[in-house]
Amino acid sequence: NTGMFTYDPGFTSTASCDSGLTYIDGDKGILLHRGYPIDQLAEQSSFMEVSYLLLNGELPSKKELEDFTRTITRHTMVHEQLTTFYRGFRRDAHPMAIMCGVVGALSAFYHDSTDINDPEQRKIASHRLIAKMPTIAAMAYKYSVGQPFVYPRNDLSYTANFLNMTFSVPAEEYVIDPVVVDAMDKIFTLHADHEQNASTSTVRLAGSSGANPFACIAAGIACLWGPAHGGANEAALNMLREIGTVDRIPEYIARAKNKDDPFRLMGFGHRVYKNYDPRATVMQKTAKDVLEKLGVNDPIFDVAKELEQIALNDPYFIEKKLYPNVDFYSGVILSAIGFPTEMFTVLFALARTVGWVAQWNEMISDPAQKIGRPRQLYTGPAQRDYVPVEKR
Ligand code: SDX
Repeated sequence: NTGMFTYDPGFTSTASCDSGLTYIDGDKGILLHRGYPIDQLAEQSSFMEVSYLLLNGELPSKKELEDFTRTITRHTMVHEQLTTFYRGFRRDAHPMAIMCGVVGALSAFYHDSTDINDPEQRKIASHRLIAKMPTIAAMAYKYSVGQPFVYPRNDLSYTANFLNMTFSVPAEEYVIDPVVVDAMDKIFTLHADHEQNASTSTVRLAGSSGANPFACIAAGIACLWGPAHGGANEAALNMLREIGTVDRIPEYIARAKNKDDPFRLMGFGHRVYKNYDPRATVMQKTAKDVLEKLGVNDPIFDVAKELEQIALNDPYFIEKKLYPNVDFYSGVILSAIGFPTEMFTVLFALARTVGWVAQWNEMISDPAQKIGRPRQLYTGPAQRDYVPVEKR
């Protein structure tokens, strides 16, 4: 009771929503996309097919998948004018800062042609976003390393196209390794959607006002960048590199348990999972496969595995129910493929765009949806009269 309002114990948040896209059981470590378990999708499906599933509710037929993939492929180019937008950034700008700016700027190119009340225009905007994110992400990388932009190619798959735009240079064609394409595609699938996480809730809240989807996705990118959320993949690999060797793990475990130390084990813990994040299981297996197939012997992977074992057997982590999450192992794979840590969250945003777009579509196409308006519990002073400055 703040003297002004009496707290109503029945007060409940209006921030929750109904959604049929993704189901999570945090205690059992279950993650389903439209009913399909994430490990089956990651091992047997593809990011394009999972994108279709999230957007449309059912797995596509062969022809439906071909048509969808062709549509996405044919939207991968960006307006040439957009390329000048990058030149305004410093070369050492964080790629996530570039992503926030450039994706938001897509509004300036497509805002007028996106009537969000028209299902067909919503579909086109959705396809544009999913298609252009790899191009925009690859351009952010190229700009940061001072290399020329590489145009998309329609003869390549979604994921191979992204890798080619990222790593190909005029002087030398990028050799597209199926092992790398498969690992990257799995990583995209594992990041596609995750119920009402902070960035998805941001996209929904922004979209509920009727803002155009390009601006809403830019808002989601901004939110994802935080180290407590999508920024954790970059922070986790930086942490593993700082630990460096297995003998230094106990020092960091002790710091993570110390209430007076703000340090947390990056890539560990979750708002919902109080069991193993099923995505982390697939990610660890993928990391092992990729390192073996690429012949990469990264001592950081050994540090990660040992850290996981020590933490999982530590009473503090057991009592707090802290397990590795999707961000713990992803950096090991991305680093083996050749990405700098600054690009890790960009890749998370690239993949999560399909989840954001699917969630936005689900919300905006609900005739009953209203503008989001979370309420608060007021904790400020009771009403009082103004005092002129000479009497203060
Ligand atoms: C993602 O929501 C989603 O779905 C997000 C995501 C998605 O796909 O969209 O899954 C992606 O964001 C994964 C999370 C990535 N973030 C990190 O890995 C950063 C490190 N993790 C923590 O910052 C933390 O675990 C959070 C932010 C993820 C969750 O924080 P909470 O809500 O405080 O965790 P909790 O309530 O379960 O914590 C219980 C206790 C707390 O201690 P007490 O207050 O009870 O004393 O465990 C502690 C926390 O302080 N704790 C940790 C810890 N995580 C929580 N202690 C040490 N190291 C950690 N990593």
